[in-house]
Amino acid sequence: DKGNHRHFMQKEIYEQPVVVAQTLQSYLRPLDGKVALPIPDSDLADIRRVTIVACGTSFYAGMVAQYWIERFARVPVEIDVASEYRYRDPVMEEGGLALFISQSGETADTLAALRHAKAGGQKVAVVVNVPTSSMAREADLLLPTHAGPEIGVASTKAFTCQLAVLAALAANLARAKGRLSEEEERRIVRHLAEAPAALNGALAYDEMIEKMAHMIAGARDVLYLGRGPDYPLALEGALKLKEISYIHAEGYAAGEMKHGPIALIDEAVPVIVLAPSGPLFEKTVSNMQEVQARGGRVVLISDYDGIAQAGDNCLATITMPKVHPLIAPLVYAIPVQLLAYHVAVVKGTDVDQPRNLAKSVTVE
Ligand code: BG6
Repeated sequence: DKGNHRHFMQKEIYEQPVVVAQTLQSYLRPLDGKVALPIPDSDLADIRRVTIVACGTSFYAGMVAQYWIERFARVPVEIDVASEYRYRDPVMEEGGLALFISQSGETADTLAALRHAKAGGQKVAVVVNVPTSSMAREADLLLPTHAGPEIGVASTKAFTCQLAVLAALAANLARAKGRLSEEEERRIVRHLAEAPAALNGALAYDEMIEKMAHMIAGARDVLYLGRGPDYPLALEGALKLKEISYIHAEGYAAGEMKHGPIALIDEAVPVIVLAPSGPLFEKTVSNMQEVQARGGRVVLISDYDGIAQAGDNCLATITMPKVHPLIAPLVYAIPVQLLAYHVAVVKGTDVDQPRNLAKSVTVE
């Protein structure tokens, strides 16, 4: 049932504040300022390496997790798409945790990679939205997302719920490794607990984004730029737009622009820049200015301070709530989802069932 919404995708975008809160509830104890995964710290303490494997949107959630796990837990992380991981003869050492992320828990590439890692002696953890799925059954450690059934083929609420679980996992692993003070843990828990309200704040810009969609809908190509944990969001933004509006889109690490893609810049290619306030803001803005200096038309997504500082000369700006950099990837998921959604509606494509795609791909 779509309720008041025109499409399942729109409904699912709007469910995010509630389902992310639901998911966080089972991984945080806000009153004690603790993260609480369903595994004793002693079982995590000897993990020496994390390998993250997934496909599509779930893979981009994994890319964000790589930043978090390395930063908080100081455990090296490798990440690969499932179809590559499975067949590249990966090195599997003792103390390896293999982490699989999947909305459906049935994606054939990811499931084959899981079985491969298990046969290689890795401890297997899964972040899945379907608790009865094959991946859930075969895992040593099951970390469910509580997004509820996701009907739209383009993943939205499952993604932000995956991020919520992965942030808790990174913090829990850090504590188990003795890398997190009580104070730091308390702070992380507080920032995560603020995410649902911030997601609500981000949804308030829906109408503005809907208007902006008309400017993007005529483009043949669109570029998305971000840095650090918001670089995967640029990739996700481009994937969403491709999947449902059929506009060619690419996501790039903002700093990588000058090493090639800047050659594509002209006034016909809108460039969406994701730049929350934080340690990477200045660098991202300087990459954005390189684009503008070559006649590129920029849509800047930032918070009030960021837009006050760098919003001049942009084609348009989208103001997000000002949030801690830890939760920015969750919050900035909303505008990229909404932009793709509204562009697709303007173009009249089949939003919930885009051509050539399936919700769960059960062939390798
Ligand atoms: C694709 C879907 O085929 O599978 C994507 O179209 C999805 O939206 C990807 O992200 C991975 O699916 P899952 O269920 O493993 O997360």
